This record gives sequence, C-alpha cells and structure tokens, in this order.
Amino acid sequence: MADVLSDRLPLFPFRSPDDDPFTPVTAADRRRLDGPVTRVRLPTGGWTWLITRHADVKAMLRSDAFSADMTRPGFPLLRQAPPPTPQSRRGSFIRMDGQEHLRMRRMLTGEFMIKNIRRIEPLITDVVDNALDATEAAGRPADLVATFALPVPSLVICHLLGIPYADHAFFQQRSAILLDQSADAARVREAAAGLRTYIGTLIETKRTSGRPGDDLLGRLVTERVRTGELEIGELIGMAMLLLIAGHETTANMIGLSVLLLLQHPHAWHRLRTADDATADDATVDDATVDTLVEELLRYLTIVRTGIPRQAIHDVEIGGRLIRAGEPATALLSLANRDNDVFPAADEFDPYREAHQHLAFGFGVHQCIGQPLARTELRIALSRLAHRLPTLRLAKDPATLPKRDTSIVYGLAELPVTW
Ligand code: HEM
Repeated sequence: MADVLSDRLPLFPFRSPDDDPFTPVTAADRRRLDGPVTRVRLPTGGWTWLITRHADVKAMLRSDAFSADMTRPGFPLLRQAPPPTPQSRRGSFIRMDGQEHLRMRRMLTGEFMIKNIRRIEPLITDVVDNALDATEAAGRPADLVATFALPVPSLVICHLLGIPYADHAFFQQRSAILLDQSADAARVREAAAGLRTYIGTLIETKRTSGRPGDDLLGRLVTERVRTGELEIGELIGMAMLLLIAGHETTANMIGLSVLLLLQHPHAWHRLRTADDATADDATVDDATVDTLVEELLRYLTIVRTGIPRQAIHDVEIGGRLIRAGEPATALLSLANRDNDVFPAADEFDPYREAHQHLAFGFGVHQCIGQPLARTELRIALSRLAHRLPTLRLAKDPATLPKRDTSIVYGLAELPVTW
C-alpha cells in the first residue's frame, strides 16, 4: 500500500528556505507532515517513516528493534549511487550493528573521552590562534569558512590521527563528495576509492616503517593490527569515518554559529566578555560559553537529513506500528525544535539550558567525537569573538551559498570583515 501512496507523500530530505539557513524545514513542508510519525517519499524511490518528536526519536534510537546497517535491502538511502556492500562498508562502524559495531567503537572510546580531550586543549588553542593570525594577515574581507571554520577542525583531526594536513585539499574535496546526496554514482565511487587508497598507503607506511608513531592510527597499528584484533581494511574504514566526521561536522557548526551570532549582537558580546574573564571567574565564564555552545548545537542541528534505520522486528514508536523490514528516519532537527522539551523552540536563546538536545544522536551510535567537537567550538568561537570583536558580514546573509545537499548542512562561504 505504501508504494501506491508514495507518489503523494512529501519529498524528503527537506530543505531550509533559501534565505534562512536556521529554519530546518519550510513552513509548507512542515504543514504537509500529517503527524509526528509519518511517511515521506525518498529521492531513491520508496519511502521512510519520519520520526519528528524528541521523545519518539529517543525511543527509536535506543530501541534494539532497528538496524543501522545500510547494506540491508530496503534501508532508506537518499542517493542514487549503488548501495554500499559489506566490503565497501568495512570499518565504517557508524552503519553496523551489535557486536560488530561495539568491537570497533570500544577501540576508540578512550581516545575521545573528556579527560583526553582536555589534554589537547592547548593544541586546539594554538591551532585556533594560528588560523586567526592567518585570517588577519590575509586581510579584509575574508571568507571565514576557508580561513577558519574548515582549517581548525581539519588540523586538529589530522594531528590526532597522524594524517598530514598538507593533503587537506585532497581529503576535504573527497569528504564533501561522499557526504553530498546529489553527487552521482561515478563521483562517489571515485571519491571513496581515492580516499581509501590514500589512507591505505599512509597506514601501510606506518605499518612497515618500524615506527608507526604515537598518533591514533599509529597506535591502532601497534596495539590492534599487530595483535590480530583489527584487519588493515577495517582500520582504513575507521580512519575514513573519523577523518570525515572529524572535520566536516565541526567546520559547518563553526560557520553557521558565526553567522547566527553576528545576527545576535548580545550573544556575540557575551561570548567576547566571557573570554575576557580573569582567572577567578573563568569557571563561571566557561559555563556561560558551554551553555551557548549547547544551544547552538540544538538550534543549528547540522545533521539535517536525520538518522536512517530499518526495523528488524515490529515495534511501536509514537503510537504507530513500524513493521519488520520498514525504513525509519529520526529527524534530529525537528526533535530539537520540540516545544514540549524546549519552550519556544524555534527561537535561539543563548541563556537556554539545551543539554537535552539530540544533535549528536542518541543510543549506541551517539557521537563518539562530542567532547572534541564541544571543545573545538568553545575555543574557536570565544577566541574569534575576542580577537575580532568588530567582526561583521561582508555580504547580505540571505545570499550566502549553502551546502544544502550534504548530509551535514552548512555554509559554502562566509564573507566577513572587521
Ligand atoms: C558538531 C559536531 C558533530 C556533530 C553534530 C556530530 C553528529 C553525529 C551524529 C548525529 C552521530 C550519530 C549517527 C547515527 O546514529 O547514525 C554521530 C556519530 C559519530 N560521530 Fe559525530 N558529530 C560531530 C563531531 C564529530 C567529531 C569531531 C568526530 C571525530 C572523532 C565524530 C565522530 C563520530 C563517529 C565515529 C560516529 C559514529 C559513532 C558510532 O556509530 O558508534 N563526530 N555524530
């Protein structure tokens, strides 16, 4: 029945209005949703259940009735590219279930724990300050995406993994293609193969050099590959996942956050003065910035295409029966605009306690990099506001080019002056 109906269903993914990157779904599309758990049409044909309420998204993502394995027939895919195969998905544990997923995730959880991220705060601060030096030296106007938002998380993840930043143009271009839902099959295949070969060569060099190094990939070679716990093919897939997730997400958060903050002078001022804190009130002001970062994560929810899953047995979500084999998508952006959890949810409120947001997902696949992302955002935004207090847009915000076909929504450019 659903296939017969699908032509009449709203088309997903939804887009932001062209002139408003902060509204995740247009009013017209929102009106077309006939309930909190409703069917939408996919660009690949077929349909998916769209889950939009905060409580229902949490219920779905913590339920073991759903699979994240996108090689399953009927999984809700957004792109006309050939579906992934178990071979092409190797190591990419974000799309794995059960023990297979846990085995790889557990090899990384310690690395990204808060106490380990605290240790690299001085490095992150240096990276941020250097990017600001370069932005100032290049002069006004500047494209803040190119000079700041993209280099900062790219440099940090390169440092952690042990990947040369000098190759950034190569891996950034390919990562963007892999996340772009409008990229055609040939480009996707080429980008994936290029990145796999690049990382494979890098790991092979570490493995055969006799000195794999003290970075994460070097340590995984020594501690997991040499012990037989992890195959090289799996390590390559893991590294690709970390490299892509580790720079694209935070980069888009920084760009969109700056655009939003410049339209909220009070929040911008607050950020600036928080960074001016003396040692005595530094804790209070760290908390101020942390609160602001949580609200930015909630309000911007950059993973706009939601989290895809497939039911493996019958389950009820939000009063609807989802049958075994049916696809479902957790729409984080609308769950984070749920008025039952966040009063006046469509408003950006820098004083709001937004920590219940779902921007990092929920359940077993909840983002492993969140302590890193939060730290990068806190340092990048507060240093930027401190160093360039008169920062302002150099172009009409309504005309800024967006990355609106990517899984990770963001700005393609952010022209600023100061
Ligand atoms: C603001 C920045 C970020 C956002 C909004 C974000 C968002 C997300 C979301 C929504 C998921 C869940 C996907 C799912 O359930 O299918 C996820 C998973 C993941 N993220 Fe992030 N992420 C961010 C930064 C990072 C960073 C910096 C890293 C680098 C280490 C990272 C690595 C990962 C990994 C490896 C997973 C898969 C976890 C698993 O499947 O167990 N993310 N992220």
